[in-house]
Amino acid sequence: MACALVTGATGGIGSELCDILAAHGYDLVLVSRSEQKLKELSERLEKAYGIAAPIFPFDLADPKAADQLHDALAEQGIVVDILANNAGFGDQGAFLDSSWERQEEMIKLNILALMRLSYLFGNDMRTRGAGRILNVASVAAFAAGPYMPVYFASKAFVLSFSQAMGEELRGSGVTVTALCPGTTATGFWNAAGMDAGNVFSLMGAQSPRSVAELGFSGLMAGKPVVIHSVPSKLANVAARLVPRRVSTWITGQVLKRRG
Ligand SMILES: NC(=O)c1ccc[n+]([C@@H]2O[C@H](COP(=O)([O-])OP(=O)(O)OC[C@H]3O[C@@H](n4cnc5c(N)ncnc54)[C@H](OP(=O)(O)O)[C@@H]3O)[C@@H](O)[C@H]2O)c1
Repeated sequence: MACALVTGATGGIGSELCDILAAHGYDLVLVSRSEQKLKELSERLEKAYGIAAPIFPFDLADPKAADQLHDALAEQGIVVDILANNAGFGDQGAFLDSSWERQEEMIKLNILALMRLSYLFGNDMRTRGAGRILNVASVAAFAAGPYMPVYFASKAFVLSFSQAMGEELRGSGVTVTALCPGTTATGFWNAAGMDAGNVFSLMGAQSPRSVAELGFSGLMAGKPVVIHSVPSKLANVAARLVPRRVSTWITGQVLKRRG
């Protein structure tokens, strides 16, 4: 049976993605920090879909974790056909007032872990001549984001990196898909230090299920980029038409109010 590794499996988008993959018959490798949540998720998925869903509790912000995870799977003979780099977080606030450690942790998780897992599993996939990688970027990838500057920059990295890696792998049997969700109703906003209710009433919010469904269909179709929802598509078009300093100002005004 084919197998999909999902990071951030216990969160809003990741957990929905796990359900969709399991419903399509994929075995799963479940990764996040919380062992208890992973156990509960694994039990539910194995029972509901009759698949195997072993858990691998790792803090992927630890620079050694991606290699340790890759080694652990190799030892158990688990071959990863789909890699979904979904784990990530944001942090609201002006850069100079923020916690340095938190920003550094964000780069380690949102960028370095995603890169390292793409490198390790991407090489395995290329050798086999088959595989799919889904990297969760964001609508934040389209603009600079005052009051969330490191998060926005990290997602710009994810989008650019995914498109470039996918192009390099054209014809290899391995595809890379960047998923760009807009505001989605998950634990992300509270984790970023924001009032989720406030954010959702200001911006509206998509369901994590619909985001995961779009990600899955884009992944299976081998699309380089999939953008969820009309407002995010408009933001993408606007980012190309409006001068960068204007889009930066507008984004800053929105993010200030979101707090
Ligand atoms: N929600 C939105 O509006 C939105 C919009 C655009 C893009 N995104 C992106 O979507 C992705 C999924 O976010 P979400 O909205 O589903 O957020 P979420 O509900 O907060 O889920 C985040 C997941 O990542 C895991 N995680 C966090 N830190 C980790 C670490 N150091 N090591 C391993 N796992 C870690 C969490 O589990 P543990 O806490 O147990 O580790 C959880 O499973 C993120 O990349 C986010 O940037 C979200």
